[in-house]
Amino acid sequence: MCGIIGYIGPRDPLPILIDGLKKLEYRGYDSAGLCVKNGGALHVVKKRGAISDLESELRGRDMPGHVGIAHTRWATHGEPNETNAHPHLNGDGAIAVVHNGIIENYYALREWLTREGCVFRSQTDSEVLPHLIGHFYEGDLERALLHALQFVEGAFGVVAVHKDENRIVAARRGSPLILGVGEDEMFAASDVPAVLDNTRKVVYLHDNEVAVITAGRYAITNLEGAPIDKQIHEIQWTVDQIEKKGFKHFMLKEIAEQPESLRNTLRGRIKAGRIKLNLDVDPLAIERVIITACGTSWHAGLIGKQFIESLTRIPVEVDYASEFRYRDPIVRPTDLVVAISQSGETADTLASVREAQSKNAKVIGVVNVVGSTISREVASGIYLHCGPEIGVASTKAFTSQVAAMLLLALFLRQERGLALDAGLLESLAALPALAEDYLGEARDAFEIAERFQFAHNFLYLGRGLNYPVALEGALKLKEISYIHAEGYPAAEMKHGPIALIDHDMPVIFIATRSQIFDKIVSNMQEVKARKGRVITVLDEDEPNVTALSDYVIHVPRVREELSPIVNALPLQQFAYAIADLKGLNPDKPRNLAKSVTVE
Ligand code: F6R
Repeated sequence: MCGIIGYIGPRDPLPILIDGLKKLEYRGYDSAGLCVKNGGALHVVKKRGAISDLESELRGRDMPGHVGIAHTRWATHGEPNETNAHPHLNGDGAIAVVHNGIIENYYALREWLTREGCVFRSQTDSEVLPHLIGHFYEGDLERALLHALQFVEGAFGVVAVHKDENRIVAARRGSPLILGVGEDEMFAASDVPAVLDNTRKVVYLHDNEVAVITAGRYAITNLEGAPIDKQIHEIQWTVDQIEKKGFKHFMLKEIAEQPESLRNTLRGRIKAGRIKLNLDVDPLAIERVIITACGTSWHAGLIGKQFIESLTRIPVEVDYASEFRYRDPIVRPTDLVVAISQSGETADTLASVREAQSKNAKVIGVVNVVGSTISREVASGIYLHCGPEIGVASTKAFTSQVAAMLLLALFLRQERGLALDAGLLESLAALPALAEDYLGEARDAFEIAERFQFAHNFLYLGRGLNYPVALEGALKLKEISYIHAEGYPAAEMKHGPIALIDHDMPVIFIATRSQIFDKIVSNMQEVKARKGRVITVLDEDEPNVTALSDYVIHVPRVREELSPIVNALPLQQFAYAIADLKGLNPDKPRNLAKSVTVE
C-alpha cells in the first residue's frame, strides 16, 4: 500500500527521501514521486515503476533544499502512471501534497473545486487535497489544512508543504502516520522503517490529529486546533532486522526465522504450567467468540476456532472482516471479538473492530505491528512479537498467529477453571526448538518443487486443523507463483473438484497423524484411482500412505494441535521454491500489497 516520508532539517532531503521510500517498498507500490522545496519553489519529480526508476530520473539533477516529501503509490483511483503519482500540486504549484487512503467524497469535491476554477491534472481522489488546501490558503498552511479537512470524508494520512513556509503539516484519519524525532530535524512517515536509519524516536499520530513539524520541533493538535501532548516512543527493533541478512529474499529469511518468531510469541506466556496473557476480558462472561480477519490471518482464525471450541466449548464464528463489517452482524456485549492482523492496519479488519465496538462487544487484537491502529484501538490483545514481516506473503506471522490463538484458547480454558494438559504446554514450549531442527534440514519441498514448477493447477487437501493449512498452502502458491491453486477440505473433494483430477493436476495432501487419519487415506485412494499425482505431507513412514504418494514431504511428528504450525513450514518453502524457480520475486508479487489499508 502507499508509503509516505517527509523530511525537514539541515541535511539534503533527497537521499533521505529515497532511502525512506526504499524502506517502504515492502508495502507494495506502482509509482513513486517526491518534492523538494528550494527557497520559494517546489521541485517535483515522479515516475511510474520502481524507486530505482525514480532514482534514474533524478540522476544529474540538482535539487538542493531542506524540506521534502515523498510517496510510493499503489493505485486505487486512476491507473498507475506519472500524472497520478504523488506529490500532487494545487493550481499555482505553491502547495504539494502526498496522501494515503481514499477520499470518499472526492467526486463532489472535485466538481465543486472545478466550478471554483481549479484545473485537475490527474484521475486521483488525492488531487482534491492540494486544491482544497489551496482554496482555503491565506498565508498559513496549517489553518488551510484544518479548514480543508472539515470537508473531507474518508481516510487519509496526508503530508503537505507550501513553497513559502519552512514547515511540514501532516494529518491522519484512518491511514497510519508517525513522526520521527531527530536532532535538529524531523520526519513524517507512514511507517517506522522509513525513519529508522535516522532516528529511533517516534511519535504515533492518532486519528483526527494534525502535526506541524519544523527542524527539530513538532506540535500536535486535534482538528479544532487544540494542542495535544504526545509521548515519544523509543523503537526497540533494528534496521538490521528488516534487511535480508544474506538470504536471497525476505520471504526465505522469514521462513527461516520461524523458530525465533515462535519463541518470541511464546516468550513469558507459559509459566509454571499456566498461561499468562494480559487481556482485558472476563473469560467467564464470554458466551461466544467471533474471529474476524483477512487472508492468511483469516486462515489462522479458522484454526483458532477449532482450538477455542475444543478447549473451552465456547462456540466460535470466523468471519472475513470485509463481510462482517457490512452485514450488520449480530454482536452482543457477551461476545468476545478477536481481530487477527499482522499489520494491524488492514482497513476491513479495522472496520470490523469498530463495528464490534459500536455494538459493545469486548474486542481484542492479535496483532504483530506494535503501535499499529488496531493495536491502539483495542483495549487489550496479544502481540505476536515476530518482528517486521517484509515479504508480502505472510509466513512467520501465520505460524505466530496460530501459536497465539492456541495460547488464547488455553488461557480461556484455564480462566474458566478447566485443567490444562501439561503435555500440550510442554510440547508448545518445545516447538521453536523443533522447528529449528526441522528447518535446518528440510529439503523435500525444495526438491519436489523442481519437478512441479511447470504445473498450472494444484489442489491442496487437508482435514480438521489442517484444512485451513491446505487453504494457506494454496494461497501461498497462487499469490507468489501465479499458479492456480485451491485448498479444500479433503472429503469435500468428491463433491466437485474430483472432476478436475488427472495426471496434470498435482494434489498435495496434508496427511499427518490425526483423529481422522484413516479418512484422509481414503481420500488419497480416490485421487490415485483417477491417476492424480500425489504429494503427501507426512509425519511418519506409513507404508500404505507412502505407497499412495508419488512424493513425500517429511515433517516431524508433533501433537495434533501443533501440526498446523509444523505443516505450514514446508508448504511455505514449496511456494517460495516454485516462485523462485520461475524467476519471480516472491517478496513483491504483482498486484499485491503488504498492508491493505484501503477496502
Ligand atoms: C497472504 C497475506 C494476506 C494477509 C491479509 C491480511 O500471504 O499476507 O492475505 O494475510 O492481507 O493482512 P493483515 O494480517 O496484515 O491484516
